[in-house]
Amino acid sequence: MNTTQPTRVPFSTINPFYSARLSRPHAALQAEQQRRPVYAKLPLAPINASPVPHLTSLYHNSLAGDYGDRAYPGNCGGNLIRDLLRYFRPATVLDPMTGSGTCRDVCRQLGIYCWSNDLHNGFDACGPSPFHAAFQFCWLHPPYWRQKIYTDDARDLSRAPTLEAFLDGYERLLANAANALMVGGKLAILIGDYQDRQAGFVPLTHHTKRLAFGLGLRQHCTDIIRFSHGASSSKKVYRSSFIPGLHDVCCIFEKTF
Ligand SMILES: C[S@@+](CC[C@H](N)C(=O)[O-])C[C@H]1O[C@@H](n2cnc3c(N)ncnc32)[C@H](O)[C@@H]1O
Repeated sequence: MNTTQPTRVPFSTINPFYSARLSRPHAALQAEQQRRPVYAKLPLAPINASPVPHLTSLYHNSLAGDYGDRAYPGNCGGNLIRDLLRYFRPATVLDPMTGSGTCRDVCRQLGIYCWSNDLHNGFDACGPSPFHAAFQFCWLHPPYWRQKIYTDDARDLSRAPTLEAFLDGYERLLANAANALMVGGKLAILIGDYQDRQAGFVPLTHHTKRLAFGLGLRQHCTDIIRFSHGASSSKKVYRSSFIPGLHDVCCIFEKTF
């Protein structure tokens, strides 16, 4: 009888890279895997007469475009704004929470008149509005309540002490935007749901629609799910377990009254 045992070759000899990976802590391994891009196959969009055929309900442009300032907290890429403006072709745009000026820069490139301002310059978009029926399009990218704090000004929506206070200010913002639009004008709002440390999950997309419908606006078309490429949170490592939100939502309303 042959009692010789087969020689056990250590993993490290067969594949030293695999062995090194196995010996790494689980969190580090997971973090490394998450750094790799994942490619998903998107559904085919039907051919139609849209002047911007790649503008669909899934907006996945990973390039921000050369607009605004990517270093500004809460900055959004300009390509979605550019595509919306190419689609709706307004002659006049209102941008009352401009941040680093992303919408303003897109309008400049497209040769569209744009009125831009922000609380950073002392303009309160939730206060009494100077505009009535003056614009064909309004772009709003408000704070997602206190996910990021923007200014020291107490009128800053991101400084609202409670969700109720935030929603009161948000409703005044939407009312001002609706009032500033001409009949047939479009209001595009980029908003995201938000996990608050104290209040828990805050469904801001739901509140946006609830408030907009309450003001008499109607939804004009599909929501646009914007993939959040480049979000600062995607580089963080958390100890807790949760389902990461990788998108925000652009809701497009029409003023019909
Ligand atoms: C999400 S950021 C907009 C970022 C912008 N889309 C960009 O790409 O740079 C929200 C902006 O709302 C402004 N803001 C907050 N409360 C405001 C208010 N009551 N009136 C006007 N602007 C306000 C903040 O200063 C901040 O610049």
